[in-house]
Amino acid sequence: MDPDEVIDLFPSHIRNQADLNLWEEANITQAELWVNKRQRQFHMSTVLTEGFVRELHRRMFNRTWRWSGTFRKSNKNIGVDWTQISVKLNDLLLNTIYQLDHSADAIDEIATRFHHQLVWIHAFPNGNGRHARLMTDCLLMTKDMKRFSWGANYASISTDLLRTKYIDALRKADRSDYSELLSFVRA
Ligand SMILES: Nc1ncnc2c1ncn2[C@@H]1O[C@H](COP(=O)(O)OP(=O)(O)OP(=O)(O)O)[C@@H](O)[C@H]1O
Ligand SMILES: [Mg+2]
Repeated sequence: MDPDEVIDLFPSHIRNQADLNLWEEANITQAELWVNKRQRQFHMSTVLTEGFVRELHRRMFNRTWRWSGTFRKSNKNIGVDWTQISVKLNDLLLNTIYQLDHSADAIDEIATRFHHQLVWIHAFPNGNGRHARLMTDCLLMTKDMKRFSWGANYASISTDLLRTKYIDALRKADRSDYSELLSFVRA
């Protein structure tokens, strides 16, 4: 990560990875509560905007990283060139709005492609997976659709295996095969 990106807001009582995970989860829960409270007012024209994308990231990580809600300023092994983030994101948002208005494809399919393309852009230094999952759920809410389960209904599956399934499905989507990701999001 860029030196600027490391600056974080963890209080000093956080000593290990487990503490850190709890801290991050609590921050994300605040964003979830905000989403739940606001979801009836969610509309495509306000949710599918760069402003909302950044606000959601900020709300999920504002007690965690100083740079929450701001885009990457360096390249990673995944993601578009950092100078292209805003352009590519706005392309994706406009494209998705167009599809929701005009395409005959099922909303689940549009939302699944949206999720993959959003993590592929990788707009932020960290938190892209968690943010793009909640962002996709917000898209579904604008259409009064049930949120995705993101594999939560797999009985007695380990977190590691769930993660592997998710990443494998994304890798297939990288090769334009969305079948596995499409079933994972409602599994
Ligand atoms: N081959 C890939 N194609 C598309 N997206 C990918 C690929 N590999 C990983 N990703 C996405 O990148 C995310 C990891 O990026 P990042 O660390 O910024 O997010 P995070 O929310 O902190 O991650 P995590 O999901 O590990 O909590 C993964 O969760 C996944 O969504
Ligand atoms: Mg991460």
